[in-house]
Amino acid sequence: MWQPDFLFGAATASFQIEGSTAADGRHPSIWDTFCKVPGAVAHGDHGDVACDHYRRWETDLQLLSDIGLDAYRFSVSWSRVLHDDGRRNEKGIDFYKQLLDGLERRGLKSFLTLYHWDLPQHLQDRGGWLNRDTAYRFAEYADILSRELAGRVSTWTTLNEPFCSAYLGHTTGRHAPGLKDVRYGVEAMHHLLLGHGLATTAVRANDEAPVGLVANVTRMTPASDSARDRRAAELAYAHGNTWVLDPLLLGRYPAELAELWPTAKAPVRDGDMAIISTRTDYLGINYYFRSNVRSDGSHGYVEEDLPGVERTQMGWEVFPDGLRDLLIDFKNRYPGLPPIYITENGMASDDQPVAGRVVDEQRLRYFNTHLAAVDEAMRAGVPVKGYFAWSLLDNFEWAYGYEKRFGLVHVNYDTQQRTVKDSALALKAFLEARRRGA
Ligand code: FCB
Repeated sequence: MWQPDFLFGAATASFQIEGSTAADGRHPSIWDTFCKVPGAVAHGDHGDVACDHYRRWETDLQLLSDIGLDAYRFSVSWSRVLHDDGRRNEKGIDFYKQLLDGLERRGLKSFLTLYHWDLPQHLQDRGGWLNRDTAYRFAEYADILSRELAGRVSTWTTLNEPFCSAYLGHTTGRHAPGLKDVRYGVEAMHHLLLGHGLATTAVRANDEAPVGLVANVTRMTPASDSARDRRAAELAYAHGNTWVLDPLLLGRYPAELAELWPTAKAPVRDGDMAIISTRTDYLGINYYFRSNVRSDGSHGYVEEDLPGVERTQMGWEVFPDGLRDLLIDFKNRYPGLPPIYITENGMASDDQPVAGRVVDEQRLRYFNTHLAAVDEAMRAGVPVKGYFAWSLLDNFEWAYGYEKRFGLVHVNYDTQQRTVKDSALALKAFLEARRRGA
């Protein structure tokens, strides 16, 4: 059922693994700043060392290759490759050139994300994503990098999960830059999406490789059959899914947003929606869990955790059917749905090596059941081209710090020792069998 051209990969992101935050002229990003805010990140954790991937990248690529994966999804740190005045930082660019060459040598495909949440701090100082100009700075960065790396990248991604950058970063304040205003979230989202459209055109002018966007999506179910709760689930669906997907694929924001946030309005100018809905070559989908929601009694919703369901170390519900349901929904909602990659899926558990082995049975079951859900969606006609586990390595899980372990490979943060977990060994056996045609 998994054709040889269906890609299996693993994903990471720059700030979560690289460390070496002051090396080779890298400038601070909003996450460096946010980690210094007391109470913002669990245990006061930060990205200064992380998985030390900036220095150990060769070992990490070898792990990918040893597991037998086909592809690697990673992100570029904007503050490494450009100086504050917009000049190229050759050393930073060379790091990614070496990484891409290392992937090529191992026959691995490269999925490069331009923006996985780590905005250069100097742009935040000028308003960040609340400033329309940041969208143009992003396109400039995309232009420079795609000129430099043209011919080496298999697939480009503009933004990872604009929902999280906009909403968690600007409305709930849970992520950098830590702002808390519903209007900010809506404004930031518009500028992020505008940046996506502009960057897509910039990359396309320089390189033939496909360009797309990665969105996180959530299955929403109503807590009861009442009309209010069903409406609450629709509002949650707009918030969690179509806030990004409708502008991208239909060129308009969903009407529900005005009901959810009557005081907030996207700063749309003439021509913006056409830029945002510039043809995208593929859509990346990140899926983790389902939310069960109830009406808040007005025009919003509240999440209501279901009792007795399986959960992960994050407290997220394990709900594989949600992935299938969403993929089928998207196929029905968007007539021109482009090919899809599942660009992230996975779970955290409190893994510890014992005698050189990490037994992570829950993760193995999680992968199996979610892959079965992808298969069902494909049988229903959804064009899925690949699946990336989140993550290759245990890493810096944003506001949760290092406690939550999502890796296929365990990282000991004292010694930087890597231990391949049982789930990765099972994946390896599966990929070997697939290669043999078994
Ligand atoms: C996604 C992020 C990724 C990681 C996983 C668990 O929202 O893209 O960086 O944090 O969740």
